[in-house]
Amino acid sequence: MDRIRIRGGNQLSGTIPISGAKNAALPLMIASLLTDKTLTLRNVPRLADVNLLLRIIRNHGADMSMDGKRAGGDTLAGETVHLTAAEIVDTVAPYQLVSKMRASFWVLGPLLGRCHEARVSLPGGCAIGTRPVDLYLMALEKLGAGISLDGGYVVAKAPGGLVGNRIVFPKVSVGATHTALMAAVLAKGETVIENAAREPEVADVAECLVKMGARIEGIGSSTLTISGVDRLHGATHDVLPDRIETGTYAIAAAMTGGDVLLKGARPDQLDAFQQVMREAGIDIKACDEGMRIKRNGSRLLPISVETRPYPGFPTDLQAQLMGLMTKADGVSTIRETIFENRFMHVQELARLGADITLQGDTALVKGVDRLVGAEVMATDLRASVSLVIAGLVAEGDTILNRVYHLDRGFETLETKLANCGADVERLSD
Ligand code: EPZ
Repeated sequence: MDRIRIRGGNQLSGTIPISGAKNAALPLMIASLLTDKTLTLRNVPRLADVNLLLRIIRNHGADMSMDGKRAGGDTLAGETVHLTAAEIVDTVAPYQLVSKMRASFWVLGPLLGRCHEARVSLPGGCAIGTRPVDLYLMALEKLGAGISLDGGYVVAKAPGGLVGNRIVFPKVSVGATHTALMAAVLAKGETVIENAAREPEVADVAECLVKMGARIEGIGSSTLTISGVDRLHGATHDVLPDRIETGTYAIAAAMTGGDVLLKGARPDQLDAFQQVMREAGIDIKACDEGMRIKRNGSRLLPISVETRPYPGFPTDLQAQLMGLMTKADGVSTIRETIFENRFMHVQELARLGADITLQGDTALVKGVDRLVGAEVMATDLRASVSLVIAGLVAEGDTILNRVYHLDRGFETLETKLANCGADVERLSD
């Protein structure tokens, strides 16, 4: 099993290209199941989760091809993927595949919309809380689906097709919004989704669906109005840049006291994050090419933050921010309000010398003068990268085990960091 070795102490300086967003690429690929024509996605990141989802949608009957290398092409640029689900041959998404990644559960929406039936295993994914699916099922029932649970599978049926309705989510859910949206585009009549997730990845999927012929109003807001159409057609869509990868490298640059350009980043999608970084004393700015981060010798100030649905501070950057605050000059307060078990990184950061106390959903992070390298374990995707961030300033070597968690969501992480001066390498057994 691969491990990553980091020797702390080097400042990061240079340019890091930002990849396509994992959390947009996955639902966009799933949207290809809604049409018998070809959906071409550009800027798809090379990630383990993308490969796994390709297996899942191919199992439903989608053909897939990828553009090959081009002479003079940028090796860090994303892939172009063509997906054609001319015929859905199987409406079952099996346990062996779905249990590995929660987003694969989202095939439920398009399968039900297009084929009027689906049998999808209850999901798995990162161990960050109980992560129920009640909101998904409520939304699909509102659209007229009959839902039952059978042997660990959700069985959904709408023999006459789905019918538009008003769906009011009691809580913001990214996945339930994706699922309701993808189900509603082929439903008869109008659907209104209230308290929809406003995450940029949801808007990206909605924009792609519009290119495919869907009729959606209110994109980017918390009320989505969808007028169902009989069929969708093919389209070409660029996956938006990954705001979580952007925030992660911004934090890494801030941690090492460097100067880094995040090329292709979309700072407009990171307002709450930038505000917190400025409070911490970091020079962070939008620029023509993306976003620029500097911290030359200034003190790292403690912050107080809580995670919130977009446009609030993202839960997917909570672990990384905590990594940064382990070196701040004072005590930071970080409250996690989205997932109840997203503090698995705390005990691993402690191995490096961090001083963190948990009080329910809140972590009190007391900055320390030194972190010292140690052997640590990746527990989930974002937790694992917080250990990389801490390792970048820890004295000596940090060895990160279970790197497969990182590979789910960070494309060529060690190359991107090494290109900016970090002493980091992958150790393959
Ligand atoms: C998406 O997960 C992301 N995954 C997560 O990123 C991200 O952390 C999360 O949204 C929040 O931003 C992808 O986009 C692939 P939710 P999702 O439904 O959709 C509760 C990463 O590291 N809830 O918005 O699964 C739920 O338990 C991953 O890239 C219900 O109660 O998250 C949580 O408390 C991890 N009932 C809250 O809603 C439901 O039916 C928000 O979860 C569904 C969710």
